[in-house]
Amino acid sequence: MPARALLPAIEEQICLLVRERTGIRIHDHQMDTLRRTVADGLARFDHAGEADYLAALRAARASSPECEHLIAGITVGESYFFRDQAQMDWLREQYLPRVIARRREEGNLSLRIWSAGCSDGQELYSVAMLLAELLPDRERWNLHLLGTDLNAAALARALRGRYSEWSLRATPEAARQRHFHHERDHTWSISPALRGHVRFAYLNLREDSFPSMLSETTALDLIFCRNVFIYFDPAIVAEVCAKFHACLNPGGCLLLGASDLIDSAALRGFTLRGLDNAFYLERHDTTPAIVPAAVPETAPTRAIEPPRPQVAAQAAAPAASYEDITALLGREQWREALAAITARQMADDSGALLPQFRAKALANLGRAREALEACDASLARDGDDKHSHFLRALILQELHRPQAAEESLRRTLYLDRNFVEAHYQLGLLQMRRGARQSGLKSMKNALAIAERMRPERRLHDAAGRDHKRMAAILRHELRMYEADSGGKR
Ligand SMILES: C[S@@+](CC[C@H](N)C(=O)[O-])C[C@H]1O[C@@H](n2cnc3c(N)ncnc32)[C@H](O)[C@@H]1O
Repeated sequence: MPARALLPAIEEQICLLVRERTGIRIHDHQMDTLRRTVADGLARFDHAGEADYLAALRAARASSPECEHLIAGITVGESYFFRDQAQMDWLREQYLPRVIARRREEGNLSLRIWSAGCSDGQELYSVAMLLAELLPDRERWNLHLLGTDLNAAALARALRGRYSEWSLRATPEAARQRHFHHERDHTWSISPALRGHVRFAYLNLREDSFPSMLSETTALDLIFCRNVFIYFDPAIVAEVCAKFHACLNPGGCLLLGASDLIDSAALRGFTLRGLDNAFYLERHDTTPAIVPAAVPETAPTRAIEPPRPQVAAQAAAPAASYEDITALLGREQWREALAAITARQMADDSGALLPQFRAKALANLGRAREALEACDASLARDGDDKHSHFLRALILQELHRPQAAEESLRRTLYLDRNFVEAHYQLGLLQMRRGARQSGLKSMKNALAIAERMRPERRLHDAAGRDHKRMAAILRHELRMYEADSGGKR
């Protein structure tokens, strides 16, 4: 039976709102689903009528319970392991072996992969399985495997890692044997070892910022965003693709779904390459020079050294003011900020702030080693700057030095007990090393502080988030972790 129609004006407003907040366009054939979801939401959240419900949606952001429920209702989270055979074969036989061989040659055993719009996690776990096959020395590697979605219920299922037979319909027998356990209720659960190699987090591709070291979306080798753009407007697809481009290392790839049609605006900076039955986008590096011509960038260790004053006299670029630099960092224009910082350091390099700014820009550009040196330079000038300690912790995480990162987070919290992001990051680190209870406690501390603060106050280090947004994200992630039994079955 078709669902009861809503008032046309309300229906239109809800569609508009969903589009603004998530990028998702609701098509005619989805209207019935929308109506059913709204009817369910009216009852669930106890709203007097449709207008009330719409007002509640308007007042909140995409991460509110009403919005979350609506989004979960209208997004199709269908996914399965080893989806799209052609792409999976290409990854197994060509792309991954190539990157792995290159990294071995460079002596840099690290790989960073993001599944954006990961739904219940099958895509990310499939890559983790491919890597388990391709890396006999897996333990020596730093693997960063991140799955994000805006559907908190899907994320909770991803974390739990329990699937129906149907989800395994394309799974090779060897992978089934090696990575799954058949449960008594005939579901299949992912092995704890594999679960320990991935991380899931809430991220709305429309609202949240990336690339950002806070969302761990910098310096990536591979991004999956398959079967997500089918919901989006072309203009939004182009916007998201431009941001993906900035997240990738040169030569890194973006994998889309076979039915994700994109237009040429979305291809800027990418080379479209074909597979037998699918395609992928490779980032060709069109990045403009970061450092002004007068100061050629040399080896990484040199790059953070403050240029000597006599060089400043030759510099073509005028020194930017601190306000300009802060504004560029605030707008997350990392390359421009780095150029401005370099110019400024040539004119005046006193104080701890410029190296801290430099560290932030470099870290967000995925240049973690240089960022760490800049951060240490900043701390050498002011050892009690909580922001430098926090930044250092994030960089150390990126460099896979969790113990040192934890020490820097504790130092940050020693300097400021109300540092929301430090509690949050500490919680994530603790969860990752298996200290679930301490991890949950740290995340709850972060939430309690975020809820106490002025909602619209922006967090200094949290990628444009204010306390309200941070609290909403923390609630999502806590729900996701609490729904998971922590490995107990
Ligand atoms: C069809 S599933 C695709 C799952 C997986 N990528 C695959 O191809 O098997 C689409 C996912 O995109 C997510 N999604 C839609 N809009 C999103 C947005 N704005 N931000 C993050 N995730 C989004 C949905 O919640 C859903 O889980």
